[in-house]
Amino acid sequence: MHRISFVNGEFVTHEKAFVHIDDRGFLFADAVYEVILYYKNRLIDFDLHIARLRKSLQLIKINNFDVSDAKIKEIILELFAQNNLNTGSIYLQITRGNSPRNLTLPKNIEPTFIATVSPVKSSLTEETLVSIKVMTDIDMRWSNCNIKSVGLLASLLAKQKAIDLGFSDTVMVRDGFITEGTFSNLFIVDQNSTLITRGLDNYILGGITRERLLKLAQLNNICVEEREFSVDELYNAREAFLTSSTIGIVPISSVNDKTIGDGQIGNIVTKLLKLYLDFISMD
Ligand code: PDD
Repeated sequence: MHRISFVNGEFVTHEKAFVHIDDRGFLFADAVYEVILYYKNRLIDFDLHIARLRKSLQLIKINNFDVSDAKIKEIILELFAQNNLNTGSIYLQITRGNSPRNLTLPKNIEPTFIATVSPVKSSLTEETLVSIKVMTDIDMRWSNCNIKSVGLLASLLAKQKAIDLGFSDTVMVRDGFITEGTFSNLFIVDQNSTLITRGLDNYILGGITRERLLKLAQLNNICVEEREFSVDELYNAREAFLTSSTIGIVPISSVNDKTIGDGQIGNIVTKLLKLYLDFISMD
């Protein structure tokens, strides 16, 4: 069966899913994106993802993207149906559109809108946790990480550096405090069993999984703090884990070869995965 994607109003075979070389997403990363989980025929936290997408569009001044939320949802559901997937992720990207390379923002050009679906393989589909080893590195990204920008070169290089050095991922550090993973948010559990994650600011992406887990934790009497924390606090944590829509929840067993807690998958992360799986199963 052919993979089907969506480009500017049309469902096309993936091999023919092209944008023009004048597309400003291609030329300048003048574009934003979203990734949403589709789990057992349900779109998870669609409203939160669309609100973040609209916020990102507003922050980069793409003001004329006029596809309604209902239409976006219809396109996504149609794509999962046409690709015969009942669990996967949807990637949406909106660029400012095509225009000859121009360093000022062109007016009155039509935004490019593409969407494509992929299978996911994560704690959400396996329903079990597998831990990873990470390293820390300086956060080399720009200062607008709250925008879900497609300008991801710094993140790609940070992740690749980790892989080349035998780790699975990099946890980024700015001014002595942890920001987030390359493509995920980071949580720790301290020695008092308090769940801690950095508060929302312009140095992290406000993850939807992060937001959902914070709500589930509070509802289930897990003590939560949203605040900056240092690399030392990460080393001394009882548990640490990464979260995103596609990886789900991924425990961290060591940071820079220092074991986190007893190196085993902890109670809080196990409880949170159960709560999250219950949530996405009945969203
Ligand atoms: N990335 N922080 C960054 C830098 C991210 O790229 C992501 C997600 C997250 C988690 O956000 P959410 O929980 O809403 O997925 C945090 C997606 C999955 C990606 O780029 O593929």
